[in-house]
Order: sequence, then C-alpha cells, then structure tokens
Amino acid sequence: MNILLLGSGGREHALAWKLAQSPSCAKLFAAPGNPGIAKHAQLVPLDAADHAAVVQFCRAEQIGLVVIGPEQPLVDGLADSLRAEGIPVFGPGKDAARLEGSKGFTKLLCARAGIPTARFARAETRAEAEAELDLFGLPVVIKADGLAAGKGVVIATSAEDAEAAVADMFAGGFGAAGASVVIEEFMDGEEVSFFALTDGKTVVPFGSAQDHKRVGDGDTGPNTGGMGAYSPASIFTPDLQQRVLAEIVQPTVTAMAAAGTPFVGVLYAGLMLTEEGPKLVEYNARFGDPECQVLMARLDSDLAELMLAAATGRLAGAAPPRFRDEVALTVVMAAEGYPGTPRKGGAVARLEAAEAEVEGVRVFQAGTAEADGRLVANGGRVLNVTATGGDIGEAQARAYAAAERIDFDTGFYRRDIGWREIARRAG
Ligand code: AMP
Ligand code: GLY
Repeated sequence: MNILLLGSGGREHALAWKLAQSPSCAKLFAAPGNPGIAKHAQLVPLDAADHAAVVQFCRAEQIGLVVIGPEQPLVDGLADSLRAEGIPVFGPGKDAARLEGSKGFTKLLCARAGIPTARFARAETRAEAEAELDLFGLPVVIKADGLAAGKGVVIATSAEDAEAAVADMFAGGFGAAGASVVIEEFMDGEEVSFFALTDGKTVVPFGSAQDHKRVGDGDTGPNTGGMGAYSPASIFTPDLQQRVLAEIVQPTVTAMAAAGTPFVGVLYAGLMLTEEGPKLVEYNARFGDPECQVLMARLDSDLAELMLAAATGRLAGAAPPRFRDEVALTVVMAAEGYPGTPRKGGAVARLEAAEAEVEGVRVFQAGTAEADGRLVANGGRVLNVTATGGDIGEAQARAYAAAERIDFDTGFYRRDIGWREIARRAG
C-alpha cells in the first residue's frame, strides 16, 4: 500500500523511518516533510489545511493509509474529510480530537465517566474565573481551553499570579484558545506519558516515556515542546499500566464511542502519579514529540500494519505491538534562542558520522532545511539524537557521545536527559 505521512518534525522523521521499513509499505509520501524525512519518503508540497487537495492527491496516488502527525490538522477535521472519501486514516476526526483541542471537554468527560483527574472548574468570563479562584487553594493551575502550543498553562503560586493569568487569558494572551478557561487543583507527583493505539473500540498499550519540558538542566527555565525523552519509564510498572488502562484510557475510548465520536489513532495520556494513584493531566490526540522518537527506536513491529489495523477497526485481530527490551533516549539539539525566537540558518553537520561512530544511534531531523546543498537550522528544535542501549546509562552515554560529534555551533542541548531514571537506578 502507498502511505501519505503529514508533518515535518522529528516525530514525523521517526515515523517515516519506521514506516519505510514496513513490508506493507509500497511507496511513502510525506508533506511537507524535511530533509531527514526525504531520505525515506518522497516529499510533496501539500498543505494539510487544504483538505480537497489532500483528498485529490490520495486518489491520484492510490494512498491506502494517511498518517497525520501533528494536532492542528486533526483538530481541523482533516481525518473526517479523508474518511468521507473512504481513505483510511490513522488519527481522530475533529470531534474526537477535542480530547486535545479542548481541555474543558476532556474535564467534563472525566467527570461524567468517573476518570481520576484534578478537581476543576470552567469559566467563560473573567468574573466567573475570579469567583472560582476563591474555591481553590494554592498553587492553582490555570489553563486556556484550546490549543496553545503547550504554552497555555500557568501554575500560580500566589493569588496575584492567578488573577494576572486569568486576566491575561481573557485579554486574548493566548488568542482564541483562551476564550474559555479551566481552573484546576494542583496535583503533586511525578509525570509520565503513556501511549495507546485504538481503533475506536479496542485499546492496545504502546509504551511509556518521560519528557523533559523545561529548557535548562535540572528542569529550570521556560517550558518548551520537550528537550529530550526516554522510554520506557520504569516508574510506570505493569500494575500501573493495568490501572491506567482500566481507570483512564479504556473508559475514555468507551465514552467517545458511545457519544458517536470514536477516537481512532494514538491516545497520549499525560499522567500524574499521585499518592492517591495515577491521575490524568491531559490528553493529546497524537504521538508526543520527542516521545515518538524513543518509542520508534524500540519498536520491533510493522508500524504500517498496526496503523492500518487501527484505521480500519481491526486492532482486536492484529498482533500486539512488540518492543525490544532496550532503553531508548533522545537528546534534542535546539537552536540558540529557543523556546523564544530561534536563530535560523546555522550550519548543522556530521550527522552521519555521529551515527556511524556510535553504536545504536539514529539522528532524527526536526527543524532543518537545505541551503546551497548544506544542512542548516530552520526551527527551534533542530535535531533529536536518539540512542538505544541495554539500560538507561548506556542509552544516555551513546546519545551524548553522538551529540558531541555533531557540528552545530549555533545550537545547544540539555546535558541531563534521563536524570530521573538514572537517579532511580542509583537508588
Ligand atoms: P498540560 O498542557 O495540560 O499538559 O499542562 C502542561 C504541564 O503543566 C503538565 O505537563 C504539568 O507539568 C503541568 N500541569 C498541568 N496541569 C497540572 C495540575 N493540575 N497539577 C500539576 N501540574 C499540572
Ligand atoms: N513532548 C510533549 C508533546 O508532544 O506534547
């Protein structure tokens, strides 16, 4: 079958690398892609916002599966436009993507289905929000309802900060995403990401990971899209996974199906492991970036076959995903300035040398471009240096040995990716 992959980040490079290895993948196309993805797929200049153009391309190239990487086209309903034409899609339709696109929607669903999550209130006006704030202790969490590229969450430690955050959101600080606001109780604990594939009915676990959201070592500085990740997260034991499937993920998938809006694709549950047990922080309707890179580095199964089974309601009969018994770790190399305005155009070189000289290493490209035949930085997160190893220490050592071999003078990276897991092993 021919496959069309949409997106242009490190997540999509990892997906393209894995899809291209699939015996069931005949021809792989990617739009818009990046120079790394171009090694595995034919790039096509399609705009995911132009649904008619995507449908037309799929017909012309006899596409048997569309894989949608990022959240925006999902929230915009691209999967619906394709399914209406009978084209199998890995990714939820617009209504199901509300699990990511509207925090208030997800909180209401949790309340109705009895899914453990932080106590919350929704507010449509500043006055309503201020009245609600009085009913929460400190710290308190204030979130813009809609997509805000990971930036719409404020953890306020004083009443003044909380009021300022509410005022900012209703003043349009997060655009339309802040037209409605969710106020939440603060949950204390360790965060872990859990992924599950679903065809709308059957749920199949797809691994755990931990991200590093702050830009600086020791989890300091502003939030980013993620500066590194590893998988699996040993804190997420098989018992915890069973509990999260039974108490959080399966009830969500069941509720979505019952509402006539089945969720098809990968459900990414951001979890807080609290003293009272695992609780949902948020859902994403897609793979995490860079969490996807470490999942793909460990995946042994035919990805295209699994995605097609999910897209066509056949997951119950499919062979369950197999992961190698290894740890994968990825270090994000970012351009100076990130997560503010990143410096573009800096030369990036010796990627292949790093892969060849260090065992178990693969360098996925995120914000890269080609200029005059050379690779340059073209975004905030530029490279994801990904390594596998027998344990977290080996994976970490390999990833950093490879990162050191890469020439990227205008880039930087965190030196402590994996620290929680290393500390846990040290006991
Ligand atoms: P979200 O976009 O909802 O995942 O929020 C971004 C980050 O804010 C999460 O990864 C958590 O670190 C933090 N966060 C969100 N909600 C809460 C909460 N209720 N309690 C504690 N931390 C939270
Ligand atoms: N790395 C966090 C995310 O993809 O949302």
